[in-house]
Amino acid sequence: MLNKKMEDAINKQLNAELYSSYLYLSMAAFFESKDLSGFANWMQVQAQEELSHAMKFYNYLVQRGARVTLPQIDEPPAEWESQVAVFEHVFEHEQMVTGLINDLVDLAVSLGDHATNNFLQWYVAEQVEEEESSSGVLQKVKLAGDAPSGLFMLDSELGQRVFNPPAPAE
Ligand code: FEO
Repeated sequence: MLNKKMEDAINKQLNAELYSSYLYLSMAAFFESKDLSGFANWMQVQAQEELSHAMKFYNYLVQRGARVTLPQIDEPPAEWESQVAVFEHVFEHEQMVTGLINDLVDLAVSLGDHATNNFLQWYVAEQVEEEESSSGVLQKVKLAGDAPSGLFMLDSELGQRVFNPPAPAE
């Protein structure tokens, strides 16, 4: 059985992952409205990834005999000043999520919950990738600026991203 504090904290993180998915879907819709379909594709894949992060928490709660709760998901912003502003937001958001995952690990350690600590290590590693990929795209978006040729090339590149669901055992 999971400690109640751990159960509540994981449910809260499940909600945060769903919010992340909603946020990135909102960014996808923003890019669709700007006719940047490759940028929108990158964000759609990001939204799918976040949904898979949420489902990993969902499945873990079920596996441990805990109760999944699904409170309201906050409304994400819908407009940004520029492409750069969007990706700055992504990078800041991922750094914030890393902090949330670290807090969960701290809680698991303080409760002596080794199983949850072990489970959370997947997210610790994932956040390293999340920060690396979002800061990488941010640098490229900054370099492209508003130059049509740069934007066109980057839009093509971001349009290549595909969603790779995590393996069930991961
Ligand atoms: Fe679920 Fe982007 O971290």
